[in-house]
Amino acid sequence: MQPSSETFPPPRSGIRVRRLSEHIGAEIENIDLSRPISSAQFADINTLLVRHSVLVFRGQDLPPAMHVDFASRFGRLVGHIVKRFSVDDYPEVTYISNVRNDKGEMIGADRAGMIWHSDMSYLPRPMLGSMLYGVECPPEGADTEFASMFAAHDALPDSMRALLAGAKGVHDYAWHYATYLSHRKPLTDEEKAQAPPVSHPALRTHPESGRKAIYVSEGLTRTLDGMEEAEGRRLVVEASEFATQPQFVYRHKWRSGDLVFWDNRSTMHRATEFDNRYRRLMRRTTVEGDIPA
Ligand code: OGA
Ligand code: MN
Repeated sequence: MQPSSETFPPPRSGIRVRRLSEHIGAEIENIDLSRPISSAQFADINTLLVRHSVLVFRGQDLPPAMHVDFASRFGRLVGHIVKRFSVDDYPEVTYISNVRNDKGEMIGADRAGMIWHSDMSYLPRPMLGSMLYGVECPPEGADTEFASMFAAHDALPDSMRALLAGAKGVHDYAWHYATYLSHRKPLTDEEKAQAPPVSHPALRTHPESGRKAIYVSEGLTRTLDGMEEAEGRRLVVEASEFATQPQFVYRHKWRSGDLVFWDNRSTMHRATEFDNRYRRLMRRTTVEGDIPA
């Protein structure tokens, strides 16, 4: 299918929408997020988020205060577990960046999210959505890939669906950090204590649309509850690989001024490689959701 402009029903607030791939992603072409948005626009954005899972707003000028204002419309904001990654004076805004300060320290989360995941799925109440804003983007590389867990769920082979139905994934940030983020300063005991492992259903039902989505990820789901560790891990990786096949994926190529808002309840995403001689500076907010069910 060719990406097209139709969305059904048409937005009432006058915003223009263009689909970005068959299963996932839409660009909203005529909103200035640095101004307060109307309740009609808010309602349309929320509907479009639930339907398309990833919304792209290009050409935005979004200082942290306005970013926080917009994101807060959707729920409570939750900052990063590692406090030193926050933007000064904005504890809910996190730098995702390879930039260093004048003491040579990383100002943000470096090489964040390179393995498929859904944001902060290791919390009892994981994120409804995330908003990532590009301040400085490399001219090549550093794309972000998003996979539709609705489309992947609907395409599950019966055998894998039967294994996942009723199963629970164990989401574990300390394990993730030790496994994938060994280039960073280790988590402190205090940081670890903020995120003990939690279990969530391997298949979840979206609270707004009722659609089912896969909710295990290679990056953050260590294993399956009640199963032998290695066997659970093998099934998690198999499900995650199935769910992130190219037909379920939209790949975003960043330009500065892009704001991408994704629904963590129906997607997984991952960052991709880039030449580290380029600066990359992104600001992120995350909006708390419900307890997955
Ligand atoms: C995130 C994330 C991917 C990227 O901000 O949650 O995973 O491309 N980022 O920076
Ligand atoms: Mn992420």
